Amino acid sequence: MSRYRRLRRHETLRQLVRETRVSPADLIQPFFVIEGKEKREAIVSMPGIYRYSADKLLRAIEQYRNLGGKAGIFFGIPGRKDAQGSSAHSDNGVIQKAVKLIKKTFPDFLVITDVCLCEYTTHGHCGLLTGGDVDNDKTLPVLARVALSHAQAGADIIAPSDMMDLRIKSIRTELDRNGFADIPILSYAAKYASAFYGPFRTAVNSAPQFGDRKSYQMDIANRREAIKEALADFDQGADLIMVKPALAYLDVIALFKAQLNVPIVAYSVSGEYSMVKAAAMASWISEQDAAMEILTAIKRAGADLIISYYAQEALRWLSPNR
Ligand code: PBG
Repeated sequence: MSRYRRLRRHETLRQLVRETRVSPADLIQPFFVIEGKEKREAIVSMPGIYRYSADKLLRAIEQYRNLGGKAGIFFGIPGRKDAQGSSAHSDNGVIQKAVKLIKKTFPDFLVITDVCLCEYTTHGHCGLLTGGDVDNDKTLPVLARVALSHAQAGADIIAPSDMMDLRIKSIRTELDRNGFADIPILSYAAKYASAFYGPFRTAVNSAPQFGDRKSYQMDIANRREAIKEALADFDQGADLIMVKPALAYLDVIALFKAQLNVPIVAYSVSGEYSMVKAAAMASWISEQDAAMEILTAIKRAGADLIISYYAQEALRWLSPNR
């Protein structure tokens, strides 16, 4: 007779038959970079996460590397914004300077850069405006310029998150034309218009000044459309495909895993982190257990790689000699 409890009797046995494991190589930590020197600012909406000036960022990366961290995704918060988001593609921009420094100091550390305009525009939208609307085609060459400036600074992977149509083609063409045919693109292909980005927008001060992002990010209720987005991006030259957020979209991750032959990346976003953090700070939940359960679920759903604000802590929790 089948008795399932036989294989659950003790931890060694449970480990032996465990189907899914989160391993250090799966994890990518997000980092926020600001201008200036010797700065480390706490992000109120995301306890435990900081904005660093480039010099302090190096120390943060060093700590992360000491725990086994291999890769990070980087967001710049510029000192100056304008309607065109022009500081996003400046050679001397906050992210370009930081990437150069990181790659000089830690050449083998994998640097992924987020390509978007919302942190750099005064209006907070992810593209340029024409008469109050986000203008898709006017935005494309700007995104391509941003991506090129990141590649020139030394980024290893370019990750566009703006959700304009045809951006992958525009970025791929620009990178190829300038000798960066070998730089992969990680497309935020299925990026939903989610409430879970709230704490991030506080962190980088990028909340739209009017309206919302629903005319470019995906409707939270749609699944088949995610496949269309992913196939289109793949067609245009994307190398890795992302689902974002992760926890409320495990079905989309599973669908991508079943239907696409590319690495699937899941972004467990700021709201997913802050919910667990807040509950843990109130002692309503065990932080480590809850965070690891979420990471395991994302892996189980089919993600190959996970971007998570818990990456660094997870490395610590996973470490055998702690
Ligand atoms: C930029 C961008 C956002 C996130 C990643 N890149 C915010 C947004 O679209 O509003 C969200 C990340 C997070 O919540 O952790 N467009």
